[in-house]
Amino acid sequence: MTERSAPGKVILFGEHAVVYGKPALAVPVHSTRARAEVSDLPGEPAGWVRLEAPGTQISAWLHEMLQADPLASAVRLILKDLGGSAPPALRVVLNSEIPVGAGMGSSAAVSVAVIRAVAAHLGQELSAERVSALAFEVEKLQHGTPSGIDNTVVAYERPLFFAAGKPLQFVQVGRPFTLIIGDSGDRLPTRESVAAVRERRAADPESVDRVFAEIEAISEQGRRFIESGDTRQLGLLFDRNQTLLKAIGVSGKGLEQLIRAAKRAGALGAKLSGAGRGGIMIALVEPASAELVAGALREAGAIRTIRTEVTA
Ligand code: MEV
Repeated sequence: MTERSAPGKVILFGEHAVVYGKPALAVPVHSTRARAEVSDLPGEPAGWVRLEAPGTQISAWLHEMLQADPLASAVRLILKDLGGSAPPALRVVLNSEIPVGAGMGSSAAVSVAVIRAVAAHLGQELSAERVSALAFEVEKLQHGTPSGIDNTVVAYERPLFFAAGKPLQFVQVGRPFTLIIGDSGDRLPTRESVAAVRERRAADPESVDRVFAEIEAISEQGRRFIESGDTRQLGLLFDRNQTLLKAIGVSGKGLEQLIRAAKRAGALGAKLSGAGRGGIMIALVEPASAELVAGALREAGAIRTIRTEVTA
């Protein structure tokens, strides 16, 4: 049996702007992971793959699954990429702790874990670059026009300053910092939130591009504050980025409620993270107030909170 895993992620700055070529800053969330186990399935025909994902009630043969199914797509892509003759029959079991459709990169993490595990079981350890490129193909099937930030941060598992088509830049974390993630429980597909911003931009390109330019400056400043370890200034940037995300219509009532609660409980800054309209928000906190902020978020309606430390 071969097991591989991949972390969730949060975007600190630059969601949506990154779809238009602007930079964004994302970090892995190591404490929530997707795990894939691959084993041989003796007695079944070569080339057959049994897929099981207990969390989503999937239990089917690969050839019975829809072309568009993300788990099946990830397996098909890696088998095609590895080439060669049909592998022995395999069983792939997927378990993920990452909230689905919440902005934590669950789909990218599932693809990365499955791609890594199947390749490793068949004797190949793939580079992060190759894993990320394959996972990006699955992301495109699922999310329409993704920027590629999710598959990249999840495959490299390091804080990243990312702009599509530009060389990757890793961010050195000057001083570790603590985030509390609050899940609003509301869900809206990334594809729809991205489409809504596209429509807004088509209707009023000047103001939306002005917002994106301000977000770009925030991502760049944010990177510098992470490198210098200036957590207070970083918190102020969370708040400014949130105001801009609200201005382009991707915040939501539940998210706003959580953001207010986090700030009242002493967070240094708070914003939505990911596609928005629902999903998660993140609060930057001093370690001493982490529990207080997490409690305030749950009281304000968060269906779960996750604490994560961002380190180099
Ligand atoms: C998704 O995690 C973040 C968005 O910027 C979409 C993308 O980058 O593909 C909203």
